[in-house]
Amino acid sequence: MGRLAILGALHEEIADLLAAMDPGATIHRIAMRDFHVGTLWGTPCVIALSRIGKVAAAATASIVIQEFQVSRVLFTGLAGGLHADVDVGDVVVASSLMQHDMDARPLFDQHEIPLLGRVCFDADAGLSALLHDGAEQFIRASGEPSANGRTTLAAPKVHRGLIATGDVFVSHNDEAQALRKRLPDALCVEMEGAAMAQVCYEFGIPFAVMRVISDRADHAAKMDFTAFLQNVARVYTAGILEPLLKS
Ligand code: ADE
Repeated sequence: MGRLAILGALHEEIADLLAAMDPGATIHRIAMRDFHVGTLWGTPCVIALSRIGKVAAAATASIVIQEFQVSRVLFTGLAGGLHADVDVGDVVVASSLMQHDMDARPLFDQHEIPLLGRVCFDADAGLSALLHDGAEQFIRASGEPSANGRTTLAAPKVHRGLIATGDVFVSHNDEAQALRKRLPDALCVEMEGAAMAQVCYEFGIPFAVMRVISDRADHAAKMDFTAFLQNVARVYTAGILEPLLKS
């Protein structure tokens, strides 16, 4: 099997993975990005910071596929919760992804990717199932009773379903409500996943997306996102991936 690509939009989202790479990793600079090539807990991989947004994610996905012979691509990071069941601290693993800001009406249906004839891109079922189980185990282990027998935090949940992607940081209640109404199945909103998914689909490369919910895409989103990014984001991805890649 070829390398696993792991991509994130912000440094904090991949910092612990970079720090955990086995000695001997090399850095390749292409198109203003650093691609860290080596092994992570024994698994051959390339890790890169895409930067934020659909174009950045698509460019980074194209590069890892064309330059580094990857066999799978994983995008990881934060997202805003949309669905009523999806709370801050929960994990969402994509079963499929769509671009909520794609609108070429009246030439094509709303959300349809022009000339591809599809709205959604399906994530790889096997890789997504591994991530889902890994996230549940991580949350269970983090929530185990402390020495005094009490846990203080409500246990986060792990969800699997539709992720909506667009070049918008959703930070107003009315924007979030409009998305909920238009896309009642969408669990969360972020800014890269479906762009990476489209590139992987076009190249025939399996992919998965795992997101930790940092905010509820409302008026408090900016503050919640920033606090979550600084304090929590980095712990999740490394904590979930370490046992999966070691096994
Ligand atoms: N990523 C994390 N929170 C987000 C939000 N509210 N909108 C878009 N992307 C996000």
